Amino acid sequence: MNTAEMQKRQAAAAALTHVEDGMVVGVGTGSTIRYFIDGLAGLRSRIEGAVSSSEQSSALLRAAGIPVLDLNAVGPIPLYVDGADECDLSRCLIKGGGGALTREKIIAEAAQTFICIIDASKRVDMLGRFPLPVEVIPMARSMVARQLVELGGQPVWRDEFTTDNSNWILDLYGLSIREPEALENRINQIPGVVSVGLFARRRADQVIVGGTTATR
Ligand code: A5P
Repeated sequence: MNTAEMQKRQAAAAALTHVEDGMVVGVGTGSTIRYFIDGLAGLRSRIEGAVSSSEQSSALLRAAGIPVLDLNAVGPIPLYVDGADECDLSRCLIKGGGGALTREKIIAEAAQTFICIIDASKRVDMLGRFPLPVEVIPMARSMVARQLVELGGQPVWRDEFTTDNSNWILDLYGLSIREPEALENRINQIPGVVSVGLFARRRADQVIVGGTTATR
């Protein structure tokens, strides 16, 4: 196992220590979260269940014997654990490399505590080297892309990919994101945008890098 995979596994193990008896746990999507789900399987008799951010994670959770709950049927979620594609020193994130950004954003919003688990390669001083995913209603794709060009990015339609919500993704290249919250708000205002993979307004409460909780 390479260093990044070891750090993902360590971060997932550290996040598992935050799971308490009777909890409903929000579960993200991606390769880091797979380790978390593996560990959560060992706690399944102690938790009420999980709210999942993707069909992929729902399948893994069910295979692990963990009940997948409807967000509408549960109250606020005490704990949400998810990975990220980039994380800055203010705990702002780029997410959505796996295309699950919209449901991830919904669960983050519903969560009392959002713990982000990453390997060290995801830490950056400034967000933007990783292309910023934007989920769009299919009929709005070109119009949204033109507006994203005006914001200074180069949008690329993610080939042959449809989200769990039956929408499309534009990956926005070439940005140096100096003001993540302002850009998140700006992109959210474009009609046809379902969500943008910038998690700044509702950023992570805690970031675990490998086995270590980041101080900032
Ligand atoms: C899924 O849409 C993403 O937001 C993931 O959380 C993110 O891409 C991190 O994935 P990895 O853990 O696979 O790097």
